[in-house]
Amino acid sequence: MSFYSQDLVEEIRSGNDIVDVISGYIKLQRKGSNYVGVCPFHNDRNPSMSVNQPRQIYHCFSCGAGGDVFKFVMEYENLTFPEAMKVLADRAGIVLPERDLSGEDRRQADLKAQIMEMNRLAAKYYYYMLRQPAGKQGMDYLLQRQLSAEIIQSFGLGYADKYSNSLYQYLRSKGYTDQVMKESGLVQVDEKRGMYDKFWNRVIFPIMDTHNRVIGFGGRVMGDGKPKYLNSPETKVFDKSRNLYGLNLARRSRKPNMILCEGYMDVIALHQAGFNQAVASLGTAFTQQQSILLKRYTNEVLLTYDSDEAGVRAALRAIPILKNAGLTAKIINMEPYKDPDEYIKAEGSESFQKRIDEAESSFYFELRMMERGYNFRDPESKTAFFRALSGKLLEFEQGIERNTYIEAAAAKYHLTYEQLLRMVNQTGVKQGGLAKMPSPAVLSGRKKKRTEDGSLRSQRLLITWMSSGEQMFRNVRKYVEPEEFTDPLCQKTAELLTEQWASGKLNPASLFQYFTEEEEQQKVSAMLQDTIPALSKKEEEKALQETILRVKQDSIAWQTEHMDPNNMEMLQKIIQKRREIEKLHISLD
Ligand code: UTP
Ligand code: MN
Repeated sequence: MSFYSQDLVEEIRSGNDIVDVISGYIKLQRKGSNYVGVCPFHNDRNPSMSVNQPRQIYHCFSCGAGGDVFKFVMEYENLTFPEAMKVLADRAGIVLPERDLSGEDRRQADLKAQIMEMNRLAAKYYYYMLRQPAGKQGMDYLLQRQLSAEIIQSFGLGYADKYSNSLYQYLRSKGYTDQVMKESGLVQVDEKRGMYDKFWNRVIFPIMDTHNRVIGFGGRVMGDGKPKYLNSPETKVFDKSRNLYGLNLARRSRKPNMILCEGYMDVIALHQAGFNQAVASLGTAFTQQQSILLKRYTNEVLLTYDSDEAGVRAALRAIPILKNAGLTAKIINMEPYKDPDEYIKAEGSESFQKRIDEAESSFYFELRMMERGYNFRDPESKTAFFRALSGKLLEFEQGIERNTYIEAAAAKYHLTYEQLLRMVNQTGVKQGGLAKMPSPAVLSGRKKKRTEDGSLRSQRLLITWMSSGEQMFRNVRKYVEPEEFTDPLCQKTAELLTEQWASGKLNPASLFQYFTEEEEQQKVSAMLQDTIPALSKKEEEKALQETILRVKQDSIAWQTEHMDPNNMEMLQKIIQKRREIEKLHISLD
């Protein structure tokens, strides 16, 4: 994975204190010996991420994200390991040696980096083509849509010509193989035609991530053809659920909100009209990850979905997703126009600014849409509406927030606060009553799992102890060998810690490079992050004794279960071990 020496990795690590680095992204607060903050990797408002300074690792107790300082930067910035190395080296003022990317190394280089480079070349190629005589049709189309030369430039718009393999030929001339080109999604293969371009005879919208790297493309027909838009498929660098069109520019807008719309052209038209806080999802439904991404830059999102049925449905789907990420949502009314592009063309930007100022809060919008399904003149239907309304109000957290909305809704529908509150509580009791009864099958299943959990918990706890310091490590290692851990992950961690200790220094944060699976990394970070409650020396000794005994006994139980029953020698060994454990006296240094 790494092109760099272990020494360099460690030098960069020690130049980047994890608390300092993470503080640059999220607010951390000191809590006991740890720092805590709101985890940026899942939707949350509570501080469930803990950062451990002595061990230089982080872990989220809610979503399980965890690792060392490199992992955090990779995850947060969506970078590869070498890219995160570069960021952190720069931050610490360390100069990285040039990587030699000739010959074999080049082929070995991350596929991700190669796709990124092909995208960059393709964007430049399309950009150039748009400005050639052959690109006149594309330029005419964009100008006819009233885009200015500046905006065409700042969004890097381009043109794919009429030939169906120009880009393929170009990338081939740059030395890319068919195989890697296919991975980029820019070219496709067909049995008859061979390799051909994904985009041709279209204007091109390059899609950038927040680092201004080209990750994919959209292409529009110049007129009424179908499909109207083509989009790059998802690739190693293009995850449609984690990126937003225009965010690379909108993140620098310094506006009090973000505008979320449906199309590429809407984003561009809004930016041109001065609303440079506009972004759009990428031809797919708005996702939770996208709302978490937006939450990094703003607290309020204005929705400008198309004013047709599909647009209303999309807005109703997006609202809970935004609220889940802790964002306030408002809806901009675009009637009688279809989308912001058309609105601004017809009415101008001042008028659109008015619509922004009058945007409706998502709660009232949802109520208005809900009302449509009921007939208030029919008492039964009206009652059903109030039940639905109560259900909606239950979605707010109990306390001030819910009460505020109950008050607002009561006023809107001419009820007293008490009347509506009673309805809400009744609905709540009904909902809660159903959810509370676990089945007997679930309960018995749980019990069996508990003993297995107990064994695993002891092993993990022992790892936590071992990683907490040299002296404690020696205390545990005196009694426990790595192979006595029956859980493979604990065993591997114990071995690695032993190696570190033997070569002079425990370094929990550098363990992560030995675990490549996300799931393993999460478990390891949980173990390393766990804190042992502050205990008196006597209490700690007792807890440690119990844990060590448990791990050793479980190890023997495991061996007994898995041994060959005819192996007398093994049996004797196990019996011998059992006796030793009975006599074992564990004491702390
Ligand atoms: P719209 O059909 O609303 O197009 O699609 P638009 O943004 O108004 O485009 P213009 O003004 O006609 O040029 C909204 C978005 O849905 C995706 C694209 O991301 C588009 O920007 N889409 C639409 C596709 O991916 N494929 C299509 O065929 C159509
Ligand atoms: Mn449009």
